[in-house]
Amino acid sequence: MPEASRAPACGKDRIIVALDVPTADEALACAARLDGHVGLVKVGLELFVSEGPSVVRALAERHPDLEIFLDLKLHDIPNTMRGAVRAARGLGVRFLTVHAGAGTDHLRACVEEAGGALGILAVTVLTSQDARACAEAGATRTIEELVTMRARCAAAAGCAGVVCSGKELAVVRAAAPGLATVVPGIRPAGANVDDQKRVMTPGRAVRNGADYLVVGRPIRNAPDPAAAADAIAAEIDAALAGG
Ligand code: C5P
Repeated sequence: MPEASRAPACGKDRIIVALDVPTADEALACAARLDGHVGLVKVGLELFVSEGPSVVRALAERHPDLEIFLDLKLHDIPNTMRGAVRAARGLGVRFLTVHAGAGTDHLRACVEEAGGALGILAVTVLTSQDARACAEAGATRTIEELVTMRARCAAAAGCAGVVCSGKELAVVRAAAPGLATVVPGIRPAGANVDDQKRVMTPGRAVRNGADYLVVGRPIRNAPDPAAAADAIAAEIDAALAGG
């Protein structure tokens, strides 16, 4: 997916706003406030489970300039993942996420089914998980080792990119240099960390090589979400300019 690995030149187009809200009305209101201030909107599990594909269609219809990132983090048998990717193709989304921990064969099934119509992004290790959480879940490797292994799986399967923490960007670049990197857990300096564990500022993430930044609460919960997005875009632009 060569197109996906070309990072946008402009800071605003690298921002993916997480529409983590329960209703289509709230999602559409948020998208309306942010159209022109960010490049993509992210429809995640809460919104998709509440409203289904109709909310994705509504966003695409009302905001043709906003690309859609469908964050369903698929993790199932290859045939079921393939079916979900096929369904997502009909929605006109730019990216769809799957869990890299599913393994190369599973990721390859998704990439084959996507057929270039959308980019498959593999989630390496959730940014809400720290070493203890990974160990509790049975992992015997460090987070860096897990990210390395999963980034290699993603590259071998032909994924467009990976979702990883800003702290693992160097590890991903070393393991799989051609993959686009999407980084959640972004917090402007001084912002509330919420439930995220491995966070980074927008400027630092971009200086470390992030192609796209996923930002939710710091924009959505700001008194003026468009101004918050503009400030993050300015910080990204400064980082791209070498600041
Ligand atoms: O509000 P906040 O900026 O923490 O939102 C982060 C978003 O990124 C959420 O929608 C979350 O589901 C998503 N995400 C994440 N960590 C990952 C992958 C996705 O936080 N590894």
